[in-house]
Amino acid sequence: MTSEAHCCIFLIGFMGAGKSTVGRTLADCLQWRFVDLDQVIEQRAGKTITEIFAEQGEEAFRDLESLALSDLRKMPRSVVATGGGLIGRDENWRLMRSTGTVVYLDVPWEQLQERIKYGQGRPLAAGVEAEQRLRALFERRLPLYSQADWVICCDDKNPDELAALISAKLENADFFQSCREG
Ligand code: S3P
Repeated sequence: MTSEAHCCIFLIGFMGAGKSTVGRTLADCLQWRFVDLDQVIEQRAGKTITEIFAEQGEEAFRDLESLALSDLRKMPRSVVATGGGLIGRDENWRLMRSTGTVVYLDVPWEQLQERIKYGQGRPLAAGVEAEQRLRALFERRLPLYSQADWVICCDDKNPDELAALISAKLENADFFQSCREG
């Protein structure tokens, strides 16, 4: 039996995978709330992510990220676009799994590489040899991303098609019926 506390959809994936774009459309389809976790962190901190990384370091950012994620327990029926590195902490997985369904937007490196705007707003995509570093990071994260409940192959689909595909998959999932009713 699924309680409404479990009715969140978490979109995970690397930078540039389209989590926010797909998430917004999916939330519209489901008539659920859309949450962009990076935006929540920035609003709460009163700083951009780049500033948080520069002034407090990555670990402090990861703490803020885990805190923002844990607060979503109080927000059932949300579609959540997570930051690409959220999957690095076990506690975040426990939180996501106890709150909803984890969906990986699987985009090949070649496409991500074209979409990531190096040096613009993403601290990990800045600096020298950013492309090589990001590729290595992507490879290291792949086994983590693939632990998602659902892996969605995004190869040749646009954001609207992806949102429709995930929404159809939800309609067919038993747990989803009790999410609708609340
Ligand atoms: C990060 C991805 C970013 C943001 C931060 C760190 C990462 O989010 O959370 O810059 O570690 O991959 P997007 O995946 O939305 O770009």
